[in-house]
Amino acid sequence: MDTEITELTSFESRLRASAAETQDLLMALLSPDAASDEIVRPANLLAAMRHGTLNGGKRLRPFLVIESAALFSAEHEAALRIGAALECLHCYSLIHDDLPAMDDDDLRRGQPTVHKAFDEATAILAGDSLLTYAFDIIAAPETEIAAERKVQLTLLLARAAGIGGMAGGQALDLAAEKSAPDERGIRTLQSMKTGALLRFACEAGPIIAGASDSDRRRMRIFGEKIGLAFQLADDLLDVTSDTATLGKAAGKDAGRGKGTLVGMHGIEWAENRLDLLTEEAVGLLSPYGGKAAILQQAARFIADRTN
Ligand code: IPE
Ligand code: IPE
Ligand code: MG
Ligand code: MG
Ligand code: MG
Repeated sequence: MDTEITELTSFESRLRASAAETQDLLMALLSPDAASDEIVRPANLLAAMRHGTLNGGKRLRPFLVIESAALFSAEHEAALRIGAALECLHCYSLIHDDLPAMDDDDLRRGQPTVHKAFDEATAILAGDSLLTYAFDIIAAPETEIAAERKVQLTLLLARAAGIGGMAGGQALDLAAEKSAPDERGIRTLQSMKTGALLRFACEAGPIIAGASDSDRRRMRIFGEKIGLAFQLADDLLDVTSDTATLGKAAGKDAGRGKGTLVGMHGIEWAENRLDLLTEEAVGLLSPYGGKAAILQQAARFIADRTN
């Protein structure tokens, strides 16, 4: 019990520390000053991007990039920048996910969604600009990573975010409101809409560090497991939690006819499956010994999180 408490404290303090560093970097990146080869940064669009990005959030994806990089002794500064790039892309996905044409949500991270605080056109453009910015941050000279590793990161992120990843998963998610998918269909759409970016977060670390192919493969599978666990927990929280705790509307999935495994199999099944996925993820990292403890705690946090 005591070790569990100590572990939790160290995990939470490291998550908090990396979230604070990520926040500082995002603030600097989303400054009003145009970068070289930019013309101007329109104030209203920048304000919408900042609203959708600097408004809290657990910053779990940057944390996973930073810790998966640290496991293979990568340069911290480089990992921080790749984490910020991924967070920009994640925030874009949330801004668009909340649009009236998609999930039509008014609340995100305890605040009005971007299209509510601004307007729909601005929310679309803020998302577009954040998506583009993610690749800008990877390519920029300030990100000190060897060029060939940057190309690998760019390709992997593009594939995680695009038609065969997050955006494709969002399309399947919306289609599933109209015709209910089977269990395999739900797994596929979840591994795409949510899993793909989490998988990138875990695979990015070994790439930044130039680790071996087998390390990269192991971290990729770890990312896939926690990605599935993450969406399962999100779907559970939609049923078991409340809007105030979540900072976003609860109880929406059933109402919209979203295909979820919780809807299909119930809460108890989902909780058991979550435990199983977590233990599989934790077991995958056992070859790394104590060095991987923080990532193993992250896997447990994903399953046990309350928002
Ligand atoms: C929410 O992601 C969207 C899903 C992929 C389910 P998070 O739960 O990581 O959201 P923030 O970034 O902490 O707000
Ligand atoms: C969203 O899944 C996944 C992405 C944003 C890509 P959800 O629609 O379940 O996420 P929440 O519940 O709105 O955060
Ligand atoms: Mg959605
Ligand atoms: Mg949504
Ligand atoms: Mg959800």
